[in-house]
Amino acid sequence: MENPFKYGWIVRGPYFADRKRELAELVGEMKNVGRVFLTSPRRFGKTCLLFNLMDRLQGLGLATAYLDLNAYPDVRILASALTHLTSKALESNVDKLLKVFSRLQRLRPKVTVAHDGSLMGTVEVAAEYKEVLPALLEGMQNAENLARKKDTKLVIVIDEFSDLPKYNGQTLEKAMRSEIQKHHHIGYIFSGSEQSVMLAMIQDRKRAFYKLGRIMNLGPIERGAYLDFIHRWFKKGAYRVKRHDLEKILELGIDVPHNIQRMCHIAWELARETHEITPLLIEKLPLVVAEQDSPHFQLQWQTASQQQKALLIALSKSPDAKPFSREFQLTHGIGPSSSIKASLDSLTRKGILYRTPEGSYQFFDIFMRHWISHLY
Ligand SMILES: Nc1ncnc2c1ncn2[C@@H]1O[C@H](COP(=O)(O)OP(=O)(O)OP(=O)(O)O)[C@@H](O)[C@H]1O
Ligand SMILES: [Mg+2]
Repeated sequence: MENPFKYGWIVRGPYFADRKRELAELVGEMKNVGRVFLTSPRRFGKTCLLFNLMDRLQGLGLATAYLDLNAYPDVRILASALTHLTSKALESNVDKLLKVFSRLQRLRPKVTVAHDGSLMGTVEVAAEYKEVLPALLEGMQNAENLARKKDTKLVIVIDEFSDLPKYNGQTLEKAMRSEIQKHHHIGYIFSGSEQSVMLAMIQDRKRAFYKLGRIMNLGPIERGAYLDFIHRWFKKGAYRVKRHDLEKILELGIDVPHNIQRMCHIAWELARETHEITPLLIEKLPLVVAEQDSPHFQLQWQTASQQQKALLIALSKSPDAKPFSREFQLTHGIGPSSSIKASLDSLTRKGILYRTPEGSYQFFDIFMRHWISHLY
């Protein structure tokens, strides 16, 4: 049987665990063409949730368009992608789609041939337009007009939304806000993981997206439901396992779906012969991941100074300790606080650690902690 624990990209359908409450809430919001800001720490499952939401919405007859701002380096490309994807979501007939594009002023249709030889209609910003922001706004307006004409609700999902300021900052944000406010046939979801950046964009009254919609904080998947999901799959694969033993995987993965999927995937493979998931095997899982990712951790390790390495070793042994406390510094023979502060800042900038909202410091990748504590 195929390994049912997928990770690394979008997990859909039967391989997607729970999130029933979040899905129902978002479906409700989008049926009312609402605006939602979805935030969570990295790898909590926003993108997966959004794809499963879009599958559900399409089943309910809504049109959906997904944009990942990471993929569009400038406004010109963003404008083309937004116009193309929203129009395509509402009009599947290529001839009609090209007609829609031909009515635009600042964007012009482009016909390309797909791999299978069929024609595809796309659109690009007309070369003579130096000002690309009006083209983006025209694309947004076009989506609203088309949705109205088709009498269909459209949902636009903008992922990695905290990347928006990279374009041209406040001007673009303001212009987008006033355009979005004119829309009555489009629901919007803005999703992002850099919580402080996201929150600054929507909670600062001087910023354009201030109070444009409600904020939904995505937490971990509810433990009971996730355990049921994992247990059910192992049973289906005829593995012997106790449900309460599996809880340890959630603990080891600090409830981050990415970590948990990864460990369940490995458990499935390691026990392919014996078909038994024992507590001993579960204990081993973080180290197996750490070994698989060792080249990556090695590279990160090399970027750290001696002082930073000493701090990382200390944090790997006492992950919940307060790094500025005397006890922590005495136990691990590091300090003073000023140099610890400098190391923490540098390691955070490198993406090795992150600062929790409560002010403690955690490894960005939990498996790096296991890698370090195993080696040192
Ligand atoms: N409901 C779920 N069921 C099963 N696996 C999930 C679920 N949600 C997330 N995952 C796992 O976590 C991984 C990361 O999820 P996803 O990419 O959606 O997170 P994200 O919050 O968008 O992360 P980022 O902030 O880095 O963009 C997925 O590849 C998948 O393995
Ligand atoms: Mg994502």
